[in-house]
Amino acid sequence: MVLFDIVEGLPQGKTLDIAEASPVDNFDATLTGANDYADIKGADIVIVTAGLPRKPGMSRDDLIATNAKIMQSVSEGIKQYAPNSFVIVISNPLDAMVTLCQKITEFPSSRVMGMAGVLDSARFAAFIAWELGVSVKDVNAMVLGGHGDTMVPIIRYANVNGVPVMELIERKYNGDKAKAKEVMAALVKRTQGAGGEVVGLLKTGSAFYSPASSAIAMAEAILRDQKRLLPVCALLNGEFGVKGYYVGVPCVLGANGIEKIVEFSLDAEEQAMFDNSVAAVKELVDSMK
Ligand code: LAC
Repeated sequence: MVLFDIVEGLPQGKTLDIAEASPVDNFDATLTGANDYADIKGADIVIVTAGLPRKPGMSRDDLIATNAKIMQSVSEGIKQYAPNSFVIVISNPLDAMVTLCQKITEFPSSRVMGMAGVLDSARFAAFIAWELGVSVKDVNAMVLGGHGDTMVPIIRYANVNGVPVMELIERKYNGDKAKAKEVMAALVKRTQGAGGEVVGLLKTGSAFYSPASSAIAMAEAILRDQKRLLPVCALLNGEFGVKGYYVGVPCVLGANGIEKIVEFSLDAEEQAMFDNSVAAVKELVDSMK
């Protein structure tokens, strides 16, 4: 595993620190820190987190000018030294950065994807589990659309081991449907602003651990050909009525990267939210032209 950064000493220090934990954690991986793109030569997967994080009060979109420049050189490095790799982009604004990465690398879209949905869905699932007092392991929840404040948590299919979440919330509040709706609206709002919530607390950085775990789940799905169905920021070619834009949708991830984009029908409310989110993505991406 190679950790790359332009700052000298930083990736070397990080990898040394991680490598020294290996006897305790029982792993034999070889870890290298690098400041030269040549060192990523032949990588199977490249996870891109390069770019500035937000400061409190900023939206992900405020990072576009600075991070587009960074993404340009990173993508060129990947294209030159890891031409057969799968690329998982985390950098923000996500939907725009992954678009740029695919344009510059010219890799097939099955090999260039964004990590957003796994993280946004994890956040939604965690908030549902905490509300209901159940294990996070039993909550299934999916968030689609762009990785911004307009993202679309799919309430209708959220469930706890098959039991609909909305019914559980309604029962918790003794059948008060209005109260249950209000509670769910708050969970949705918290999910949409969850990245910013962490930024607001850290003040000098954005989330580290949950985005990392989410990207690793995607990398494992590809490297181990798991055929997992995960929300992935994928280039759409007519699916969900969108063409030529990267948007978060359910995908099957396996040895060939994005092996399938899985469509399902949205109800009127979900469709309106999805359209709104796609419009925000389009505006952002088109602003780079
Ligand atoms: C977040 C960043 C990774 O949502 O976009 O925390």
